[in-house]
Amino acid sequence: MNILVTGGAGYIGSHTLVELLAARHGAVVVDNLCNSSRTALKRVEQISGKKVPFYDVDIRDREGLEKVFSENSFDCCIHFAGLKAVGESVVKPWEYYENNIGGTLVLVDVMRKHGCKNIIFSSSSTVYGDPEVIPVTEQTPKGICTNPYGKTKSMLEDILSDLNAADVKTGDAKPWNVVLLRYFNPIGAHPSGLIGEDPSGIPNNLMPYITQVAVGKRDMLHVFGNDYDTPDGTGVRDYIHVVDLAKGHVKALQAIEQGCGVAVYNLGTGKGYSVLEIVKAFEEASGVKIPYVIDPRRPGDIAANYADASKAEKELGWKAEFGIFEMCRDSWNWQKNNPDGYR
Ligand code: NAD
Ligand code: UD1
Repeated sequence: MNILVTGGAGYIGSHTLVELLAARHGAVVVDNLCNSSRTALKRVEQISGKKVPFYDVDIRDREGLEKVFSENSFDCCIHFAGLKAVGESVVKPWEYYENNIGGTLVLVDVMRKHGCKNIIFSSSSTVYGDPEVIPVTEQTPKGICTNPYGKTKSMLEDILSDLNAADVKTGDAKPWNVVLLRYFNPIGAHPSGLIGEDPSGIPNNLMPYITQVAVGKRDMLHVFGNDYDTPDGTGVRDYIHVVDLAKGHVKALQAIEQGCGVAVYNLGTGKGYSVLEIVKAFEEASGVKIPYVIDPRRPGDIAANYADASKAEKELGWKAEFGIFEMCRDSWNWQKNNPDGYR
């Protein structure tokens, strides 16, 4: 298939490009580089030995997108482009709604105009809010999102699903196919060490913070709370290797090909690890000690969440293969080889 990859220069997008090209799909990238670098795409080309056509276009720019669609023919769009910092979204809600929702509305309008009505969307486990029962399945009701970022994910799931519902209702001969992939916590990097996560400023997420402590950029890890109702009191999450996550997108193309309508999949490993377990696993994989202090809980955090990912295995034949050791090893390999990221 020929795939439009929005946000393809980013962390998950760049890893997905490698897997798409390895599976002999074509890929064209649209990214405005607001949180990424062209170097990531050069590195994807280095890993895959293939050229990746790139448009420095904002998905809110209708004319820019029209040009991309007039010069290419796409079977599907994998839509990563969006802003993703939870804390920032609380202080800049308008920017998050305008970029994530406004941008997606322009994108899908241009797509349908050009007859491409297949989309795979980057959603998040955040749509489950604070679930009553874990592991969560795709049937678990969506929860309350406490921040604008999470709300954009939940709203976009609904918006994209409504496009399909309208087509079904009106008997459209070519209805939208929408795959909603709910990612759990992606960490790790491509085993080559050439591409990885490159956060700007102080990392919000656990693993990039740990790797920056390990490389000497930060003094110590701040563990946000050790009084949760979890085995060691620290937060439990379902960490997934970004290469496994990337492969999930290639598998999701099968659902599109089969005319799935709306299909939702959890992409996680099904196993939860606490913050302190991650620290220990990282120390074992890297041989570097991670000093830490216990801080108060981070507002908005939940005690625990992990996935029941059996639907993706049953329907797509996808299952995460890497374990926590490989996730830590590859995060560290990326960080130590690229202490300043792509800069
Ligand atoms: P990322 O910031 O590395 O990648 C997003 C890319 O989108 C960046 O390259 C950025 O430059 C681009 N972009 C943003 N707004 C754009 C616009 N208006 N036009 C064109 N390009 C634009 O983030 P990521 O971690 O690779 O995440 C990819 C997607 O997955 C995002 O939608 C994110 O919300 C979602 N997601 C990420 C996580 C995670 O933990 N990383 C978890 C769940 C969901
Ligand atoms: C965060 C977002 C979530 C988003 C996800 C993936 C919040 C409240 N939630 O989830 O919406 O979908 O990232 O991008 O920001 N931790 C520390 N010290 C740190 C960083 C994290 O102890 O410096 C702990 C957290 O309290 C949590 C765990 O590590 O228990 C994982 O945190 P993080 O990597 O930020 O992911 P989430 O909180 O799951």
